[in-house]
Amino acid sequence: MQGPVLGIESSCDETGVAVYDPAAGLLAHALHSQVDLHAVYGGVVPELASRDHVRRLLPLLDRVLGEAGLSRDQLGGVAYTAGPGLVGALLVGASVARALAWGAGLPCLGIHHMEAHLLAPMLEPDPPRPPFVALLVSGGHTLLVHVADIGRYTVLGETLDDAIGEAFDKTAKILGLGYPGGPALAALAEQGDPGRFRFPRPMTDRPGLDFSFSGIKTFALNTYRAAGPGAAADIARAFEEAVVDTLVIKSRRALRQTAARALVVAGGVSANRRLRAALRALGETLEVAVHFPRPAFCTDNGAMVALAGAIRLGAGEAEPDLRIRVRARWPLSELRPPGR
Ligand code: KG4
Ligand code: ZN
Repeated sequence: MQGPVLGIESSCDETGVAVYDPAAGLLAHALHSQVDLHAVYGGVVPELASRDHVRRLLPLLDRVLGEAGLSRDQLGGVAYTAGPGLVGALLVGASVARALAWGAGLPCLGIHHMEAHLLAPMLEPDPPRPPFVALLVSGGHTLLVHVADIGRYTVLGETLDDAIGEAFDKTAKILGLGYPGGPALAALAEQGDPGRFRFPRPMTDRPGLDFSFSGIKTFALNTYRAAGPGAAADIARAFEEAVVDTLVIKSRRALRQTAARALVVAGGVSANRRLRAALRALGETLEVAVHFPRPAFCTDNGAMVALAGAIRLGAGEAEPDLRIRVRARWPLSELRPPGR
């Protein structure tokens, strides 16, 4: 494959489109967030998400190609998120990608959403090089992964119940904040007293790299019931301090265990400022390089999909037929190095 790659993301509540050129880098990207659409329901409504992807995808595609100054036949390939995610939502991106690639005679490839998140820091200056440890923190996943190389992933630890972003969102709901709760909770925490409540740091008192965040959400609920709405900011602060601390403790353990010299942090929650500062401080203490995507590429976006597509299509990978394959679940450990 030669030429720029179009990337399409539609796994959840964001429609993202981008063009990444292996030589020139990111040429254009655009995003439509469905936050307003789902906010009234307090969470993502899958059918509404699918319908909105249908509405938004083609106009975004035209916009991105226009900004990149490219016509469809100047592309080198098309990549789309094939999973994990909401199947109806994934099918929209997959169908458009497949049809477009077929029409223009281009190679096409489905991308793993979490691999795309993991590679997103490579869109920044001074990109990370494997081997490294990746901390993937999003609305659906909390993973510590050893990345021996691109496509060679060993999951070191994962959540046994709620994902970290889910814990942010559920706790935000308890505190009467809107959806998605992560950014709102983080903003409220700024006004909170860090000394008033102390939340547990789940599963840090025993060995291992797994996480559990459902207990901490219940702790927030009980504290809120006992202390009342006036304590919301203090609860938000205590919750944030506890989850950040937990992620730092487990990241330190993973770095020690693997002797890795770099930490990559990605996924929606990696936009969290307190988490970024705490992990940067950890990196300084351990003399380990810490890499994040820019905040706009922490949450779902097309740029990370276009980049992952450029890497894999560039190594000669492409789907052999016109079948559309999407997966609600897809373990990261099933992936292979590009081209194999
Ligand atoms: O990666 P992402 O956009 O979608 C998934 O693949 O899940 O992550 C979305 C999650 C949501 O739970 C959202 O509340 C959380 O990331 N999030 C944050 C922040 N920004 C987004 N959580 C804490 N602090 C933030 N600043
Ligand atoms: Zn995501």
